[in-house]
Amino acid sequence: MKYQNILITGGCGFIGTNFINYLFNLKEFTGNVINIDKLTYAGNPNNLIDINEKYGNDRYFFYKTDITDISSIDTVFEKHAVDCIIHFAAESHVDRSIHGPGEFIQTNIIGTFNLLETVRKHWKNSKDFLFHHISTDEVFGSLGNTGYFYETTPYDPRSPYSASKASSDHLVMAYFYTYAIPITISNCTNNYGQYQFPEKLIPLMINNMLEEKDLPVYGKGKNIRDWLYVQDHCSGIWKIVQNGRRGETYNFGGENEWTNIDLLNILCEEVAIQKNKDKDYYKKLITYVKDRAGHDHRYAINCDKVKEELNWKQSVTFNEGLTKTVKWYLSNIKWMNDIKSGQYKNWIEKNYCQR
Ligand code: NAD
Ligand code: TYD
Repeated sequence: MKYQNILITGGCGFIGTNFINYLFNLKEFTGNVINIDKLTYAGNPNNLIDINEKYGNDRYFFYKTDITDISSIDTVFEKHAVDCIIHFAAESHVDRSIHGPGEFIQTNIIGTFNLLETVRKHWKNSKDFLFHHISTDEVFGSLGNTGYFYETTPYDPRSPYSASKASSDHLVMAYFYTYAIPITISNCTNNYGQYQFPEKLIPLMINNMLEEKDLPVYGKGKNIRDWLYVQDHCSGIWKIVQNGRRGETYNFGGENEWTNIDLLNILCEEVAIQKNKDKDYYKKLITYVKDRAGHDHRYAINCDKVKEELNWKQSVTFNEGLTKTVKWYLSNIKWMNDIKSGQYKNWIEKNYCQR
């Protein structure tokens, strides 16, 4: 499928930034990228500020656009003959959704609805059009110590974040059945890597180690997450966009489960190695704090479908990915400092992390 005008929503966030770079590195992709992003606290325009120079092209367009405002989305569709949307934009942090669910309902549900309505107006019944919706495994709820989520697992979201994502997934699928708009959906486990906002576990802990601050572990640290390197998520999304069956959902995971406390211990060691400190140097900062409300115990996903149908596989091991990630954060202190001098500072001061 040769898309000429791919509209990315939320391209200034963590996965969106990585995906836009991934796209421009692909020889086979010769089209334009139109990025619409509201630039919330999590959207950093500096991530992509030099993207046209970096790739020696003029194929990147940015619009500061709020997807809860349907007329502004429409304006972008009037300017560009969009033939594919990859929808990343969302409020994405579970803790924030607990403290203030309203924005999650607006952006994740109403925003997705607005995009779908705009597509319904502009897609011209082209079977070559695609709306790819990026979602999370959190829509499936929480697992015990065994078992996996499958594409067929019934939805059972537990946080305002996951409930809002579940709702948006249902809307996207409804537009496939009702209006025949070609859609695909992917549900992925926890991503990690460069450009992740330092409120999420891995970058937050790296930042706190560098500042020699407490490393806050919720509850007993026994909750389990499955981790996928962001670049491998990007390669999977591209495979679906190219060859995924329309009307289908695909799961992505890292087959790489860790309790939070075990992950934190190896992260402490990796940062210590790269900072030339004693292996256990940062572990003394580990502090157990009040648990997250409704904290999902375990996420783990079966991703055989995307492996078998689309020949997707991961290329980065957890050891390699963690080393690269720590290296990136240590080499990009300015990126982190710029964030901290703005909204992130307020986030810490408001003490939302239930310390
Ligand atoms: P992020 O929070 O880093 O970035 C979200 C981006 O969306 C930001 O650039 C923000 O400015 C933008 N945005 C927010 N509200 C908007 C609005 N109303 N209009 C336009 N733009 C808006 O998130 P992320 O981690 O990059 O996640 C991207 C997508 O992937 C989300 O849909 C998320 O649910 C999904 N996902 C994330 C993970 C993960 O581990 N990070 C795992 C599975 C799925
Ligand atoms: P997070 O990165 O917020 O992702 P998600 O909630 O979407 O899985 O958190 C990952 C895990 O780490 C989760 O079980 C909560 C836990 N956690 C902590 O223990 N301390 C923290 O400071 C943060 C941000 C998360």
